[in-house]
Amino acid sequence: MGLAMRLDPSQSVEDLRVGRFVVVEGAGSRFFSMLTDVTLSASNPTILLNPPTDDPFLMQVLSGVTTFGTVKVQPMLMLQKDKLGEFAGGKGELSPVKTIPSHFSPVYEAAASDFALVFGEEDETDKNNSHFNIGRPLNMEVPVCVDLDRFIERSNGIFGKSGTGKSFLTRIFLGGIINKDLASVLVFDMHNEYGWQAMSESKSAPRVKGLKQLFGHSVVVFSLDRESSQARGIPDARELYIGYNQIEIEDLDLLKNELALSEATLENAYIVKEKLGADWISALLDMSGEEIEEFCNNYKGHPTAIKTLQRRLNTVVQKTPYLKPRVSHNYIEEILRQITAGKHVVLEFGRQNNLLSYMLATNIITRRLHAEYVRQSELYICDPEHVAPPRKLMIVIEEAHKFLSPQVAKQTIFGIIAREMRKYFVTLLIVDQRPSGIDPEVLSQIGTRVTALLNDDKDIDAVFTGVSGSQTLRTVLSQMDPKQQALVLGYAVPMPVVVRTRPFDESFYKAVAGRGGAWLDNADQSDPKVQKEVAARAKLAHEELFGPG
Ligand SMILES: Nc1ncnc2c1ncn2[C@@H]1O[C@H](COP(=O)(O)OP(=O)(O)OP(=O)(O)O)[C@@H](O)[C@H]1O
Ligand SMILES: [Mg+2]
Repeated sequence: MGLAMRLDPSQSVEDLRVGRFVVVEGAGSRFFSMLTDVTLSASNPTILLNPPTDDPFLMQVLSGVTTFGTVKVQPMLMLQKDKLGEFAGGKGELSPVKTIPSHFSPVYEAAASDFALVFGEEDETDKNNSHFNIGRPLNMEVPVCVDLDRFIERSNGIFGKSGTGKSFLTRIFLGGIINKDLASVLVFDMHNEYGWQAMSESKSAPRVKGLKQLFGHSVVVFSLDRESSQARGIPDARELYIGYNQIEIEDLDLLKNELALSEATLENAYIVKEKLGADWISALLDMSGEEIEEFCNNYKGHPTAIKTLQRRLNTVVQKTPYLKPRVSHNYIEEILRQITAGKHVVLEFGRQNNLLSYMLATNIITRRLHAEYVRQSELYICDPEHVAPPRKLMIVIEEAHKFLSPQVAKQTIFGIIAREMRKYFVTLLIVDQRPSGIDPEVLSQIGTRVTALLNDDKDIDAVFTGVSGSQTLRTVLSQMDPKQQALVLGYAVPMPVVVRTRPFDESFYKAVAGRGGAWLDNADQSDPKVQKEVAARAKLAHEELFGPG
């Protein structure tokens, strides 16, 4: 359903942009709508066949009367007037569109008050206000907010082709969630751009801050490549190693394509594991050709398949220095402890940012965390009066289509988390440039979709999986700027909206930086209160590094 509107002659079509938020003033209701198309029309088509090109006066007379602009408008929400024909001071109930405005209803540009009414407003003084400014509309300098409380309730996606601003948008959302302390976040940071400094293409500000710089000790950085993290100057990145015995066959299954493992090879892995026990990978790597033959004579296995498996596992352990035959410390448990304590975790991959390393670590860690969350949630569900629910957790993954392709999403841990929704207090934030690679069943579970420009038709289709009336939104999406613009739709906003993404810069740092964050650096250092806070934090930092005392 859409409405065609005729443009007032004083309005130039050139000023109008698809994606704008407009208001249609019906007799009984106000309709909050999106402008989805702009075209030129003529009441008498012969004028177009024989245009008065050499007569400026005639052109002026005709334009707006015989030739005029038309715009298409998609009503999304309505606000009903009460009996007195008032909008209850603008506080009335917004509802989905059940009717359409009558003929000749006027259309206006939305005003600042319309944005506030529909998208809500930030309020620093109200702890329960979870509205968070993510940018401005196309044509005005007012904030557009999302409701972060609703955002974290579901799994979400940030999409867009390369260089459109996904990582920046992700940092903005995470900044809001951490600032309002709505959940813990765990970022699998493939390109080392969330924990500490990140690069920007902007010449005036070539570096931007990472979460640890903004939130200090609330954010703990773990690194799979400590050398790289140290070289980049992160003060207290913790190392993280994974033991061969923490790798499950499911992890190899996910890497089937990357490692060119056949079904037969995987089946043999089960046999080897069954016979050799938890340390089967170490044991297999140490076996000679004859020992493998002997193993196969004693048990069922197939020598060629097992030798292939051995070779592939060798590749894995060589390509991923964070793997060790055994680890004495349980690093994954430590991540969990940090999260339970209300902290946020960024796991940096350093130079380990090949897909194999990324998928392996991400999968192993998430599977264990999820298992623990399921356990804790069940304890809570059985006895909600005495047991506290686990702390909400949002897991951020990049290159998500690799984890959630239709071939693997049924069995991988990420597919499971996306499908079971927030049942166990864990959700995903999927960052991806190829949404068409993601299983449609997973896509249909995505609560809020934040989409920067996409060109590929298949990717655009994928973003709108399960969205009604998406045809008009497609036009909107395809006409956005290539950078720093996004279409936001879904659970965290009452209606779809195009925003110019909030700049991730000093003003953002000042607005969100929290405990141990940048605001202290900017504060008056001679103020005794600030000095006390700085000292307290130094002590905390010392303890975090060297333990209490
Ligand atoms: N909100 C923003 N504030 C400031 N600069 C931005 C913002 N969004 C995007 N940019 C600019 O656009 C560039 C590209 O953004 P970003 O790195 O987030 O893209 P991306 O979609 O993550 O790309 P890729 O798929 O290659 O990872 C940034 O380096 C920055 O200069
Ligand atoms: Mg990126």
